Amino acid sequence: MSVPIYLDYNATTPIAPEVANEILPYIHSHFGNPSSSYAIGRNNREAIEKARRQVANLIGALPEEIIFTSGGTESNNHAIRGAVLANQQKGKHMITSQVEHPAVTEVCKSLEKQGCEITWLPVDAFGKINPADVENAVRPDTVLISIMHANNEVGTIQPLKEIGELAKKHGVIFHTDAAQSLGKIETDVNELNVDLLSIAGHKLYAPKGIGALYIRNGVKLENLIFGAGQERGLRPGTENVPYSVALGKACELANKNLDGNKQHLFQMRQRLLDGLKDKVRTGIKLNADLDNCLPNTLSIAFEGVEAHTLASFISSRVSFSTGSACHADSVEISSVLKAMQTDRKTAAGTVRISTGKFTTKKEIDHAIEAISTAVNQLSHAK
Ligand SMILES: Cc1ncc(COP(=O)(O)O)c(C=O)c1O
Repeated sequence: MSVPIYLDYNATTPIAPEVANEILPYIHSHFGNPSSSYAIGRNNREAIEKARRQVANLIGALPEEIIFTSGGTESNNHAIRGAVLANQQKGKHMITSQVEHPAVTEVCKSLEKQGCEITWLPVDAFGKINPADVENAVRPDTVLISIMHANNEVGTIQPLKEIGELAKKHGVIFHTDAAQSLGKIETDVNELNVDLLSIAGHKLYAPKGIGALYIRNGVKLENLIFGAGQERGLRPGTENVPYSVALGKACELANKNLDGNKQHLFQMRQRLLDGLKDKVRTGIKLNADLDNCLPNTLSIAFEGVEAHTLASFISSRVSFSTGSACHADSVEISSVLKAMQTDRKTAAGTVRISTGKFTTKKEIDHAIEAISTAVNQLSHAK
């Protein structure tokens, strides 16, 4: 049986062959502790510092502003909890949105339980935040604004530049979760005026379990964990050399070919959408404004077709996500679609299809065939 076509690159990406090759020497032989002063240690220290430069280059940062973490979740936890705890003398209020990933919302909820006040900003029907709402929410005791760069479910890109300017004007630290945007769209910390930025390696063709946090020089964060002095004392513990090297390489590749990748992702998504529009005989609804969306993401609902039924119907041919969670006797709508006030039927019918740099025209054509045949059968069956 052939392997299903993978169209869920927002969930995770395969490791790029160049990245896999880069890791191998650090698995097989380069085992030194980067803190050791002899050659095999020093060489690994140099490898980590090279990786740090590669990560910094991708986002327009300085190498000393990057620390390696275990992934997007840890980076978000450290940025948010760390900034709020380090700035308690100013206040205990922070601003975020209703469409963040759980790696942000759950941190905020835990801070709320500990006495912080959180403003949860609403979004429009496409999941976009209005910068005016951010400005209206800022108070003298606001210590942090945390707004994602691009949404993982619908792909909507937030107006970070404007929000960053407001944050700067009001002297508030600005964090963004860039797990989904890196490698797909330009992401420059100075252009966007961000002070803290989270990176997740496995969305960027590096392995799972590695990430990074950008911390603008001068921004103070409380530690999440305590130990020796690695990563400037901010993230102690002996470094994960192979995976740091991998993330560095993945960032270098993303940086080298951002325009080409962007165009490829866009063309594959467009081919898919055009093909589906052509072949599907029921109504189609798009949840995002494609002019303000990640180039690879298609959040789409087919009238009269329940997303889980469709996904399981063709799971042997195409892999993608649904916009809701299916429980024994009910369908739970995602908090993102709820915040967008998507009607229940559309939300229950929403699938997220996301292309990647390895997606081919042939795969897209097979996916169009499989999805449209299934949708036409299932919508007809109603
Ligand atoms: C927007 C966003 N933030 C954070 C994360 C979490 O990243 P990680 O899986 O590296 O912890 C994800 C992963 O799904 C994500 O899509």
